[in-house]
Amino acid sequence: MEKVKNQSLSDEFNSLVDQFLLENENMAEGNRFKLSWLLSDLMYQMSGISAEADMAKGDDISTAYGVAIMPTQGARCLKEAIRSFQFLRGVKRAITHKLTENGQVHLLYAGSGPWGSLLIPLLHLFSPKQLQITVLDIHQENIEAIHKVIKCLDMQAFFSSIEVADATAWQPTPAEQEFDIIVSETMNSMLKREPQVSIFAHLQQYLTPKGLLIPEEVRIEAWATPAKPAKNERQHVKLKDVFTLHKASAQQIHQGQLSKFEGHFILPKDLGDICHLEFRTLIKVYQDIELTRNQSSLNASLNLNFVAPVAGTAINYCYQINNSPDWTFDYQPFSEKVSLIKPFVKSKSGLMYLYRFWDKYRRIPISGVDPELASKEQHLDILLVNRLGIEYHDALSFIMSELPDLEEFEGWIETKQNTLKLTQIREFNRTVSSYDF
Ligand SMILES: C[S@@+](CC[C@H](N)C(=O)[O-])C[C@H]1O[C@@H](n2cnc3c(N)ncnc32)[C@H](O)[C@@H]1O
Repeated sequence: MEKVKNQSLSDEFNSLVDQFLLENENMAEGNRFKLSWLLSDLMYQMSGISAEADMAKGDDISTAYGVAIMPTQGARCLKEAIRSFQFLRGVKRAITHKLTENGQVHLLYAGSGPWGSLLIPLLHLFSPKQLQITVLDIHQENIEAIHKVIKCLDMQAFFSSIEVADATAWQPTPAEQEFDIIVSETMNSMLKREPQVSIFAHLQQYLTPKGLLIPEEVRIEAWATPAKPAKNERQHVKLKDVFTLHKASAQQIHQGQLSKFEGHFILPKDLGDICHLEFRTLIKVYQDIELTRNQSSLNASLNLNFVAPVAGTAINYCYQINNSPDWTFDYQPFSEKVSLIKPFVKSKSGLMYLYRFWDKYRRIPISGVDPELASKEQHLDILLVNRLGIEYHDALSFIMSELPDLEEFEGWIETKQNTLKLTQIREFNRTVSSYDF
């Protein structure tokens, strides 16, 4: 009786999967979404784990490298239809390619959740001779659930091993075991919170030389985007590839060659009315199968408000791996001493230090300026405005509230200043030249 019930469940499951995976461009997104709900319902019946359970009753596991989300939440991922569709397509194509190379594929699935959603739906398309699988998850409850699902689907013959283990430290047995494909979706947008980076860094050592990580690539890009949503993509300016996780970088991290993920990017000229910094997470699941900007929760952009960007300002960033990996950004210029205009640069009228003065104060409301540097130069600032016959306070409030460009600032000075004689300019320049910066 049990067997008959399971047979009809697995028939229904496989037929739903086939519909879900149809590469029909006309398939309405809503349909795929409905199918993902139907699949989730069947997964619940097979595993006993519901995607709808009260999250307050579940427990995440905190590890040194990130959070392993609770089983309910791991189940819920299947309902992100586009994510699940693209991952399943990518895994299916990768297995098919590797089969043509090797005839048999060894696949490691790290972080299966309770339903093994990125692999188990594909099993009826292959045979156990073609595909042998090792499954890891850190939650005992997930591993128990996986056993129930594969028993229901009568797929046990595909599995070499199903283990409760931390994928950032796990070692295969036998020790020489290698995998053609490693699948892990243990990530959030920006590679925050969950341990994807550390899992790939550790597990890549168990890949065959031509082995694949799925997703193949997770790329984080910094963009400057207009304040108001703009249809015109040309107004979006790519600033930098901030970080890419793939086989090569995972290897470097493992070898300790890439322990710090920090750097900076410089805001370019002509940003116009652009005033947001946007960080995009782009996922290449396999080959041209991708998840792009805002297509799923994994690709949700992070927007930092950045009002009135100043060309030349450096934004520093740093990714730290700990029990909840995350990014920090600061708006300090990359190095005030290097990036501020040099004190000796002369203005149109031949006066040193004027441009430095403008450059320093315009940065204060946005990125701040090294307080030590500011205090060291303050004496010279006052000397300059005195020479020009301008109130210190007037000059500062004009620069810091109007944020004039250099031309506007010089124009403003011309309307205010006492015309300086050549001898006065030379004398002031001598003071600047001998100043202890
Ligand atoms: C985002 S869920 C994905 C579930 C499923 N693979 C899917 O894509 O629908 C991530 C899974 O990875 C597991 N996980 C996270 N960190 C882990 C670790 N260090 N070792 C083993 N499993 C881990 C979690 O327990 C969770 O089940």
